Amino acid sequence: MREDPSLIENAVEEILRRDTSVPAWRRSTTRPVEIAGVEVPKDARLMLLLASANRDESVFENPDEFDIRRENAGKHIAFSHGIHFCLGAPLARLEARVALELLTQRLPDLRLSPPDQEFEFDPNMSFRGPKEMWAEWTPNGSAEATGR
Ligand code: HEM
Repeated sequence: MREDPSLIENAVEEILRRDTSVPAWRRSTTRPVEIAGVEVPKDARLMLLLASANRDESVFENPDEFDIRRENAGKHIAFSHGIHFCLGAPLARLEARVALELLTQRLPDLRLSPPDQEFEFDPNMSFRGPKEMWAEWTPNGSAEATGR
C-alpha cells in the first residue's frame, strides 16, 4: 500500500471481508420464506453470520488468507445486503481509505510493537474490534520511536 497507493481501495474491501467489523446481525421475517431449502416461518428471529459469509469458500478462494490484491474482495457483505444495506457504507469506505493513504505516506515505517501482540476483543456479537493495538514509528526519521 505504501509503494502502490492504488491498492488501498481494494485493501479496504479485503479488510472488511477478512476482519468483518459487524460479524453478526439480527433480522426478523415478515412472512414465511425458504432459505437454502430451510422453511422459515413468519416472525422468526434470525442471527445472520455476515463474517461467516465473508469467508465462504464457494465465493472466496483461500478465504482465511488476507490478500489485498484479491480480485473479488468487494463481494463481501460486511455492510449487509438489501433494503437495510448500511447507510454509512460510503462514509466508512472513504474514512478507511483516507486513513490508510495518510498513515502509509506520513508514517511509512509504522509497525506493530511488539509485532506478535495478542489482541483482546470485547465480548460482543455484533461489533468487533481490538481493545488495544500498540504500534511504533520513527518520527521525522529520528531514532526515537513511540506511539499507541
Ligand atoms: C466499517 C464500518 C461499518 C460497518 C461494517 C457497518 C455495517 C452495517 C451493517 C452490517 C448494518 C446492518 C444492515 C442490516 O440490517 O442488514 C448497518 C446498518 C446501518 N449502518 Fe452501518 N456500518 C458501518 C459504518 C456506518 C457509518 C459510518 C454509519 C453512519 C454514518 C452507518 C450507518 C448505518 C445505518 C443508519 C444503518 C441502518 C440502515 C437501515 O436499517 O436501513 N454505518 N451497518
